[in-house]
Order: sequence, then structure tokens, then C-alpha cells
Amino acid sequence: MHIFSFSSEEELNKAGAKVVIDLLMKKPSAILGLATGQSPVGIYKQLVKAYKKGIISFQLIKTFNLDEYIGLNKEHPQSFYMFMKQRFFDHVNIPSERSYIPDGIAPDFNEECIRYDRLLNKIDLQILGIGHNGHIGFNEPGNYLSSRTHVVELTEETRIANSKYFSSLNKVPTHAITMGIGNILKAQKIVFVARGKEKAEIVFQSLFGPITTECPGSFLQLHPNLVVLLDKEAASYID
Ligand code: F6R
Repeated sequence: MHIFSFSSEEELNKAGAKVVIDLLMKKPSAILGLATGQSPVGIYKQLVKAYKKGIISFQLIKTFNLDEYIGLNKEHPQSFYMFMKQRFFDHVNIPSERSYIPDGIAPDFNEECIRYDRLLNKIDLQILGIGHNGHIGFNEPGNYLSSRTHVVELTEETRIANSKYFSSLNKVPTHAITMGIGNILKAQKIVFVARGKEKAEIVFQSLFGPITTECPGSFLQLHPNLVVLLDKEAASYID
């Protein structure tokens, strides 16, 4: 595990983007695993900048997003598909048919999970954030974790945290489809990003606490190629 902490947002974002750029230089057809949420947005911005400067091309990559809300179609303003489209996909040259995200309005969600798992090629680089309760993807804390893509019931804590994107808490979906812990850990490399004081404790627990289903992020300790990018606040329990 390599842990880096940065005193400026820009440095952190550039470091995250550099990991992606270095990979694409070596392997233009790399498969990227992507996350939504605030944590990776600055990295996506840096990647858009690099693309606009002609430093990298996304023409040959494939992307797989970690998760999608159940009940929101692609065009819904709060769908994760729309999140990615507005912040990343629309600004680079990824052919739309090469970006995959679970279908939140699939007629049969069990079938959809099986379909997504079959599509999932080996991810070269997974970009990952963490929830305040330790979730990665939408693998919520509990008595057990699932390895493959599955349907989850979101915890109240997660729904409250994500309600900032919705007009009210009751508009936040109750369920989602998410890659499982096994899917995430199979990635060749993981770039784990966290920002802010409110993430400091869960980051510490995830990286140095017991490996337990009560903190899904703790399973990252088992990954052989984990790069951790933190701002000073998120790193404050470690430093
Ligand atoms: C997003 C995802 C979530 C977020 C987590 C942190 O696709 O799977 O695990 O990474 O909820 O969200 P932010 O970055 O908004 O704090």
C-alpha cells in the first residue's frame, strides 16, 4: 500500500490523474473502473484538461462504473450515468458504447447483475471513494459482503449523505446495483481517494483497523496494488 497526502486539492487531483495518464500511455486500451461522488471529480477534471491539451486519448479505453441507483433511468438528473456524462464522458473522446454502468431500470435486476458481471473484463485501474460508514461502491457495512455485482439496500446514513444531490431525503432511492467486493479487489490497481476531516476516521479504520464486513473499506488492505490519495484532513488520523 502506498499512501500519499497532499496539502492542496490540485496536487491530489493531478496525482490521481497522473496514475491514469501513465497507464493510458502504456496501455491505450486500458479498462478503467470509475466512481461517482465528490472524491474523484477533481481527478476527472484534470483528465479532461489533459485530453483537451492532446496529452491523452480515451478512444480505446473501456469504463465500468461501480454502481447505479435502482429506479433512476439514464436521463434522470441524479442518475450516476448523468453524473458521469456531465463531469467526464461528454468532455473526452470515450465512444459511448465503451462506457458501461448498471441499468437502474432493468426489467429484472438479478439478470442485470449477471449481465454486468459477464461484461466486466479485468479492470486495470479502479478509482474508488469511500462512504462515511466505510462503504466502497455501494457495499454497505453489515454481517456479510457479496463478491459479485448485486442489489443492495442503501443504509439511512448513505441516503442522508447523498440527499445533497436530491430535493429531499425521500427522493433518494432506497436501493442500488453495485459491483461486489470481489469485483473491486480483482482490479489490477486501485486508486483510493478520500478528502476532508469527516473521512479521517473511516480512512484510518479501513487502512489500519481489523478487516471486517462492518467496514467494507478494510478489505482494501488485502489488495496488493493500492494507491491511497488523501488530503491533509482525511490523512489526519494517520500522520
Ligand atoms: C460512488 C460510490 C460511493 C462513493 C462514496 C463516497 O460511485 O460508489 O462509494 O465513492 O459514497 O462519496 P463522496 O466521494 O461523494 O464522498
